[in-house]
Amino acid sequence: MSDSYEITMKILRYDPSTKKRWTQQYRLQAGGILRLTDLFRKINMEQDPSLAWNSSCEHGQCGSCAVKVNGKPLLACELLVANAVKLFGINQFFIEPISVGPVVRDLIVDLEPAYGRVESLKPYIMKRKENLYGTAEYRIAPQEMESYLEATRCINCFCCATACMSGPKNFLGPNAIMASMVRVLDPREAATEQRLSVLHGPEGVRHCHTSRACSQVCPKEIDVAHYVALAKAAQTKKHRET
Ligand code: FES
Repeated sequence: MSDSYEITMKILRYDPSTKKRWTQQYRLQAGGILRLTDLFRKINMEQDPSLAWNSSCEHGQCGSCAVKVNGKPLLACELLVANAVKLFGINQFFIEPISVGPVVRDLIVDLEPAYGRVESLKPYIMKRKENLYGTAEYRIAPQEMESYLEATRCINCFCCATACMSGPKNFLGPNAIMASMVRVLDPREAATEQRLSVLHGPEGVRHCHTSRACSQVCPKEIDVAHYVALAKAAQTKKHRET
């Protein structure tokens, strides 16, 4: 791993006071184990304090640092400079905000509409089934939990929704659908039919093009498309039964 890289960052800027949008170029020297969020910080400290970006945990757990790098949505706090150069085969990175809500400033996006889509699908148990085991705790068989455990690692960074061909317009989005499918597969949930009717509604799975772009970009390596496919299959199964 080389110690230092000559990096060119072209960043899509937006100033809300003038409504002006432009691309600004920064050149910087960076060590291979710096992350992209470190580069934003370096720009702030050494070149341009006006560049605005988001990050919070800096450990790939909150999703707030998601941006598009050379068109690929990813977590800026996870991508090392050396890995970025290897991934794209160049030292030039075009950085844009993710596309799931209006841009507030530079790389900062208003995530309220995107979180609203997840929230509308109630990512919690809506109606608890009677506990057949008669214990204080609801026991779930490992095989049952296995069917949805992977999906519970989703951090709602909206990388999948950004990569989705259907976009956020009139579509609940892959992560929101997956959040609802977690509860469909959860043996404690009794409101399965209600959930499926929303998933098969006007903003639901019918918009999915099965491009699998969601799975390809997920920083947690969750097969998001699998859960969207399960939601579609539930619709097909229902049609066959009626
Ligand atoms: S800052 Fe939390 S995931 Fe990157």
